[in-house]
Amino acid sequence: MPFIIAIDGPAASGKGTIARALAAHFGFHHLDTGLLYRATGAKGGDPVLAAQTLTSGDLNRSDLRSAEAGQAASRIAAIPEVRAALVDFQRRFAAQEPGAVLDGRDIGTVICPDAPLKLYVTASDRIRAARRAAELGADEAVMLAELQERDRRDSERATAPLKPAADAVVLDTSHLSIADAIARAIAEADRARQGPVIRTSPW
Ligand code: CDP
Ligand code: CDP
Repeated sequence: MPFIIAIDGPAASGKGTIARALAAHFGFHHLDTGLLYRATGAKGGDPVLAAQTLTSGDLNRSDLRSAEAGQAASRIAAIPEVRAALVDFQRRFAAQEPGAVLDGRDIGTVICPDAPLKLYVTASDRIRAARRAAELGADEAVMLAELQERDRRDSERATAPLKPAADAVVLDTSHLSIADAIARAIAEADRARQGPVIRTSPW
């Protein structure tokens, strides 16, 4: 059985950085599911058709990283038919041996609810805005407003809203270096790979 690591969290929390590092460490496949929604948003038009005609070339476009592409993604991601059209692709990706790491908003809650490790990566909104501003060379206040609007839309939508799965491990990276955040995630994955702890009574 492939080992699945589900990672969710708000914008610029560090989930992609952690997901890539976990995949490299364990030799697992990695899917940034946000790119599926960004590419679908960029295609516009019929949402279901756009979702079904995505190609791997679409996912490698650098313009998908912009704040505008993020907003377009979050608007299209609230449409239930768009989400439904992307479910099979994500589940097939997750089923690859020897394992897969998927990061997004609904991986632990909807796409892979049985994943043995679910991480919910978060950080304060100001810190996330500062990180994204540095990344895109953009203004921090503008980024803060953009992230807050997107987080609100993602959390309040009726279908697959952003929220931690009941059994997710919450990792707040506000005051963690990238190296420390990755080390904590690897430690959680090692623990989960050993299986659930069975406590036996000493008497
Ligand atoms: O995937 P997500 O949007 O959640 O975030 P990311 O792309 O992994 O990280 C956003 C930015 O924050 C990147 O520039 C990371 O290098 C940075 N980062 C950080 O400064 N400290 C961390 N603990 C994690 C990420
Ligand atoms: O990197 P960042 O966290 O800023 O965004 P992203 O992960 O690329 O996701 C862009 C948008 O796609 C999010 O704001 C969500 O609206 C949507 N998304 C989603 O609804 N479900 C996912 N599994 C992944 C992304």
